[in-house]
Amino acid sequence: MTESFAQGQTVTTNHGPVNVEVDTSYENDSSYGDELSSYTASLTSSVLDYRHENGRRYHKYRDGSYLLPNDESENDRLDMLHELCLKMLHRKLYLAPIKRPQRVIDLATGTGIWAVDFADEHPEAQVIGCDLSPIQPSLVPPNVKFLVDDVESEWAYDRDPFDFIHARYLAASIKDFGRLVKQCYRSVKPGGWVEFQDWDVYPITLDSSLKDTGLHRYYDEVCSAFEEAGYEVRPGPKLERWFKDAGFVNIHVEKFVVPYGVWPKDKHLKELGTWAQAQAEAGYEAGALAILTRYKNWTKEEVIALASQARADGRKRNVHTIFNFYVVYGQRPEN
Ligand SMILES: C[S@@+](CC[C@H](N)C(=O)[O-])C[C@H]1O[C@@H](n2cnc3c(N)ncnc32)[C@H](O)[C@@H]1O
Repeated sequence: MTESFAQGQTVTTNHGPVNVEVDTSYENDSSYGDELSSYTASLTSSVLDYRHENGRRYHKYRDGSYLLPNDESENDRLDMLHELCLKMLHRKLYLAPIKRPQRVIDLATGTGIWAVDFADEHPEAQVIGCDLSPIQPSLVPPNVKFLVDDVESEWAYDRDPFDFIHARYLAASIKDFGRLVKQCYRSVKPGGWVEFQDWDVYPITLDSSLKDTGLHRYYDEVCSAFEEAGYEVRPGPKLERWFKDAGFVNIHVEKFVVPYGVWPKDKHLKELGTWAQAQAEAGYEAGALAILTRYKNWTKEEVIALASQARADGRKRNVHTIFNFYVVYGQRPEN
């Protein structure tokens, strides 16, 4: 491992060296298409009567169980995250070796963007996206439907099992991942596949450039508050263990290094870093407001100050932050 580096030097990660570029340029050029079809979530007032707090909007169904907003600005961030994941996986939506799946579910689908893309790619599949919030678009492919559901409750899907179950970015959403992975095992067909893609939300750096920054303080305060409240913020590195414990076979683990910011020299990593920074900057207040005001008695103003210091320090080219992202898939044995 390289212990210290500046521009032009190299930081070694588990995925090999990441070179720090001397001059960088910013790129931000993605767009998303609109899709057609029908929206089938059953929406009652108990689901749509959202909680409004500190200028943000939160889900109503199972009020309080998810601590990030569900408003437009957060949904834009989730769509940026989708683009970041696609870039990371070289435009692949998943890595599991699935073959012509018929029944597919995307757990905690968010804006439904993964489910919509998957349905487009697999017209033979019937795709369900479920979430606490009915924030998905109404114009989607005909083979997608969205449901309001709590994935941490008992599932009603067991009698009609899935060929493929997908879940992405549930860090800080879920309290008991082990139980959720076991539930997936019960609800996937023998021979079917389950894939989770998730973060270790704590940032790292292989030099000392993160130390004493607003970015470091932000993640320390916010992650520890989530952990104290019982949420899992580092599911990525633990997924393999949960998959093994649940009984999956043919488990495959892939770890991706995601730099934060434009500091890497490598074009691909710089692009990832640019998207990682853009989505993080869009999410600092969203990630911290509910957890710190509801659980830690911070004021809104204190949270905004914490977020803006994180944003400012994250822009410094000499702060070389990295996040780890994991893709883990496994198969339920045939018999
Ligand atoms: C960080 S977002 C990720 C969204 C999506 N999977 C993606 O990758 O774009 C987390 C999502 O999980 C949903 N969520 C959190 N807890 C949930 C639960 N217990 N059941 C269903 N959805 C949940 C939230 O409403 C939110 O849309």
